[in-house]
Amino acid sequence: MQQTHPDPQALHGRKTLVTGASRRIGRAIALALARSGADLALHYRSDESGARETAAYISDMGGSAHLLCADLADVDACADLADRAHAALGGLDILVNNAAIFERTPLETLKPADFDRHMAANARSVYALTLAAGRRMKREQGGAVVNIACISAWRPYPEYVPYSASKAAVVNLTQGFAKTLAPEVRVNGVAPGPILPAAGEADGQGERAVAETLLGRWGAPEDIAEACLFLLQARYVTGFTLPVDGGRSLR
Ligand SMILES: NC(=O)c1ccc[n+]([C@@H]2O[C@H](COP(=O)([O-])OP(=O)(O)OC[C@H]3O[C@@H](n4cnc5c(N)ncnc54)[C@H](OP(=O)(O)O)[C@@H]3O)[C@@H](O)[C@H]2O)c1
Repeated sequence: MQQTHPDPQALHGRKTLVTGASRRIGRAIALALARSGADLALHYRSDESGARETAAYISDMGGSAHLLCADLADVDACADLADRAHAALGGLDILVNNAAIFERTPLETLKPADFDRHMAANARSVYALTLAAGRRMKREQGGAVVNIACISAWRPYPEYVPYSASKAAVVNLTQGFAKTLAPEVRVNGVAPGPILPAAGEADGQGERAVAETLLGRWGAPEDIAEACLFLLQARYVTGFTLPVDGGRSLR
């Protein structure tokens, strides 16, 4: 019989790369995975001190983490990051694609380059990292990928068209890679609703999003981390993107 009760060390020794682990949601995911026993490589782009702080929390729990810097808008840096994570950890079992940009691009100033910038940082990075890491996982010990999408993948935000399109691509990549990497590797996604307000948001934007949820409140980064943990342990789930949005996508 397979175990059915929650195992607090369910990810014990699983070699894991989390992108954008320097702060906020990425940090919460890294800490939850470390608490479940995973060995972590923490990726950051510019916020080295934030990444060090995440690593310090992990060491307070008795764990340790490798810090890896990369600009994921650079496609070659993505494959290189997968290689470096594999070398640092001695293998790679889990990839969490969390890093992304979220830039307000209202119609008045919207430019073609906004699309390219969002697609490179948010979608091509997921493609290139999943390709590099997923190929290795399929060849080696198997593994799992979780992509952090957004509910705007299905309900685009009018002032964030390039961002929303990049997240729709993430949902599609989740399905596509679930097919090509099966059965050795499962690929799933989490689509957050309003979790934390972002810099540069229009006044009242976050509150309006919260008002549209059925639960009438902000989510927490830990809610996203919990969904990642669930998907990493859900042995018969692949290709699925789980909204964690307080019911906002039903409105
Ligand atoms: N916050 C929300 O309510 C919400 C809602 C829906 C979806 N999401 C999704 O959840 C994820 C995390 O959101 P968040 O609000 O925690 O994000 P955040 O605070 O803006 O942090 C983004 C992370 O991505 C990294 N990053 C950005 N561009 C990068 C690039 N070109 N190369 C490498 N790393 C890059 C940043 O690294 P550095 O800081 O080191 O530069 C940072 O660690 C994102 O995928 C976001 O789209 C969030």
